Amino acid sequence: MSSSKVSMMFFLSLIIISLVAMVASADNFYQDFEVMFGDQHAKVLENGQLVTLSLDKSSGAGFKSKNEYLFGRFDMQIKLQPGNSAGTVTTFYLSSSGSNHDEIDFEFLGNSTGEPYTIHTNVYSQGQGLKEQQFRVWFDPTQDFHTYSVVWNTKRIIFLVDNSPIRVFNNLESIGLPFPKNQPMRIYATFWNADDWATQGGRVKTDWNLAPFTASYRNFKINACLGSQGPSCASTSTNRSADGASWANQGLNAAERNRLRWVQRKFMVYDYCTDRIKFTKGLPRECKHSRI
Ligand SMILES: *[C@@H]1O[C@H](CO)[C@@H](O)[C@H](O)[C@H]1NC(C)=O
Ligand SMILES: *[C@@H]1O[C@H](CO)[C@@H](O)[C@H](O)[C@H]1NC(C)=O
Repeated sequence: MSSSKVSMMFFLSLIIISLVAMVASADNFYQDFEVMFGDQHAKVLENGQLVTLSLDKSSGAGFKSKNEYLFGRFDMQIKLQPGNSAGTVTTFYLSSSGSNHDEIDFEFLGNSTGEPYTIHTNVYSQGQGLKEQQFRVWFDPTQDFHTYSVVWNTKRIIFLVDNSPIRVFNNLESIGLPFPKNQPMRIYATFWNADDWATQGGRVKTDWNLAPFTASYRNFKINACLGSQGPSCASTSTNRSADGASWANQGLNAAERNRLRWVQRKFMVYDYCTDRIKFTKGLPRECKHSRI
């Protein structure tokens, strides 16, 4: 090979390597995730396309991403345990490690047969949580897989269910409130017993006669900046998700704002921003600024 060919190939492979590094996107468990706990309670099936987590009296299970990310769009398709799922909690969340951590949560609280699941969401900024909003679901989340997504950019965090925004958490650093933006986060998915609080305030317990319970996950999609790249990655031209939409600037257009209002009006069952019992000294400051 001539030296110019060699340097050309070297140059090309550099380009390819840097493109791959900036947008980590995959459908395969083995590439991006590893089992975190539960051993044989976590089963990786269909060549890494599907994961089932099971829960019995001895253990639940969980998995996490190998990498940490700083901003991105994260999609997960989940199918929840049907029938009596009281006491169980199925999760998909992002979290940094260490003290004063940041976290973005989707949790699915099980219920007795025929009673609805609750989608519980929360955000922690520098260790500060207590920002819960809860929703009913407008479909049966146990019959099929549905897509739950987190869009996290420098301006806001958007929670989506089948691409419908259900919650937006804005960056309000301009009025001095902390926003998750410096600590890279890992992706986590877990299935565990929380019958001390999860269902109807802890009154309905897990029925272990029905174990094992199962939660299924597939379509692991990550379009994100790696934590090691720092926040500047979000301003490169590769910040597009596979469908061509850019998560880095993603906000809501008029139709999406209407959709969000519809979801919040019809399906929101708890909003910390109206909880004057919890916040006796006044509602959190961001609640006054939570225009959609
Ligand atoms: C379970 O069903 C009851 C009755 O419909 C409801 O009040 C409750 O919010 C539901 N969800 C949970 C997690 O308890
Ligand atoms: C990527 O994100 C940055 C910063 O949010 C934005 O300025 C830029 O236009 C985006 N690029 C593309 C190709 O979407």
